[in-house]
Amino acid sequence: MTTQIKSLEEYKEAYQRSVSDPEGFWKEQAETFTWRQPFDKVLEWDFDGPDVKWFLNGKLNITENCLDRHIEERGDQIAILWEPNDPTHAVQQYTYKELLAAVCRCANGLKSKGITKGDRVVFYMPMVPELAIAVLACARIGAVHSVVFAGFSAQALADRVDDAQAKMIICSDYNNRGSKLIPVKKIVDDARAIGCDSVASVIVHQNTSDEIAWTDKDTWWHDLIDGQADSCEPEMMDSEDMLFILYTSGSTGKPKGVVHTCGGYMVYTCYTFRNVFQYQDGDIYWCTADIGWITGHSYIVYGPLLAGATSMMFEGVPTYPDAGRFWEICEKHKVNQFYTAPTAIRALMARGDEWPAKYDLTSLKLLGSVGEPINEEAWHWYNIHIGKEKSPIIDTWWQTETGGIMITPLPGITDAKPTYASYPMPGIQTCLLDSDGNELPEKDVEGLLCIKFPWPSMVRTTYGDHERCKLTYFSTFPGMYFTGDGARRDAEGRIRVIGRVDDVINVSGHRMGTAEVENAINEHPNVVESAVVGYPHDIKGQGIYAYVITQDLETDDAFRKGITDVVVKEIGPIAKPDKIQFVSGLPKTRSGKIMRRILRKIASKDTDNLGDTSTLLNPEVVESVKSGAL
Ligand code: PRX
Repeated sequence: MTTQIKSLEEYKEAYQRSVSDPEGFWKEQAETFTWRQPFDKVLEWDFDGPDVKWFLNGKLNITENCLDRHIEERGDQIAILWEPNDPTHAVQQYTYKELLAAVCRCANGLKSKGITKGDRVVFYMPMVPELAIAVLACARIGAVHSVVFAGFSAQALADRVDDAQAKMIICSDYNNRGSKLIPVKKIVDDARAIGCDSVASVIVHQNTSDEIAWTDKDTWWHDLIDGQADSCEPEMMDSEDMLFILYTSGSTGKPKGVVHTCGGYMVYTCYTFRNVFQYQDGDIYWCTADIGWITGHSYIVYGPLLAGATSMMFEGVPTYPDAGRFWEICEKHKVNQFYTAPTAIRALMARGDEWPAKYDLTSLKLLGSVGEPINEEAWHWYNIHIGKEKSPIIDTWWQTETGGIMITPLPGITDAKPTYASYPMPGIQTCLLDSDGNELPEKDVEGLLCIKFPWPSMVRTTYGDHERCKLTYFSTFPGMYFTGDGARRDAEGRIRVIGRVDDVINVSGHRMGTAEVENAINEHPNVVESAVVGYPHDIKGQGIYAYVITQDLETDDAFRKGITDVVVKEIGPIAKPDKIQFVSGLPKTRSGKIMRRILRKIASKDTDNLGDTSTLLNPEVVESVKSGAL
């Protein structure tokens, strides 16, 4: 097993060593895994390419490390514990032995459908154990999984399937989400009607007893696995072979496929899981994320299983059947580590202190937060009402592209200050730059957050478009990975991540590109032009504010609904604008670029100092936009 830091001294030592001898540091961690063939070099890198390789020529299979290697010691320990959407339904659990057998059966089923190493398989499923099983089954046979969050629309699904040229889609019939039943398979059928030509088969997991339409490419999950052997030889993968693609929004219109590879991702997710969550044998660990996002990949599936943990999966939502559901689950399963998003904490905080007060939360040893800055009020509520001021809070900063947690307090080891993600993990060389690329080494300073040195689980490329990877992350400041975030370093060296400095909005911890939402809005036939910005939102962190120029200045609510419907169709409900303001023009520079800075200020009701607007192409428009603000 990778090492587990136990004291501040050990953290400092590990950090020092990881900087002075990164290759020696990571070699030791990597050697704790099962390699079919040992790596012969730890690292080769060039951020200009970018071209980063870890554990060169090492051969492995990540599932052998997640499953097989635990069988002897913990074969009968629960690996996955599943809590259903409906609290009256049965809990499911898989021991390590059972999970290995289930993964192998599914892997053999996938092979029977012609899936082989390198093929892409897209998932569009609710949080049921079969999602984790099939993701691992792909990894078992070397197929590349790409999980699409089941809240995206048919169009968004088709775009991702087409970009990945996926050979198979694995979905469910319906998705139980709170009191709603979401017709997942129908959305897959709709996606196939508008694209997905590369798809040869669709596997449908039966989650309900409701009817669905059937096509000749469809196979039931239960028929796929029926009669399959419960062992399957793991495919030998090169350390740098692709493990998965995960699509994420950026500042341009099209989501990009972030590519992670096998060896480095394995080492880093296990190392961070063990250290950040200080997992001990017998603990019940629960991360509330969806496997459709990176948090679910790294800290529901891979990290915990690599570390031999018991990882809980939850099918439902925090407010169903009532706002006490999270806390009821913590009591029911005696959860020890609880990892969630600030947006969920704020939503539950708004429902009142009486909900957590009803439950026994004494099993909790640690509380985690991820996805967006956690505001001070939510931090204190979490600390007082959930942790009873006894559980350290870890505010973990990281990204889809980083693969694992980068900056975080270590519980009980380094101190935790509200709103600060605090200190970098060993191996993570952070720095702050000014906009000219000069490093700002001093304390108490604000700048652009960059990483100077490679770490094992970093993004390798963006699928099918390496240039885009270079442009997005490695070109702004040559020789550095640029995160897209602004941050502050305090007098003690703690880092506080403030938020995106590019055209990306963080809505409920999910990234939305403003261009992506604008493209969707512009699909409406009566929209001439639109501009989308983020604004502070009490629950979501940031809300989506859309300024829209219309053909005929029709400004009724039906038109607003029409625009919302188009966004839901193009992207999904998560991209719905919270506010739509109709405007006659948008403030633009003389070169025709929209001045988002002004629009952001107006949306945030921060209009005292809009800066110099006299150089605009159309300064008169500012007053009218301001006076019509919602
Ligand atoms: O802006 C940062 C914010 O979320 C972005 C990454 O989003 P995504 O790739 O979807 O991954 C989210 C889950 C890892 C970052 O660029 N972010 C994430 N965690 C924090 C955060 N902002 C402040 N504090 C955090 N703890």
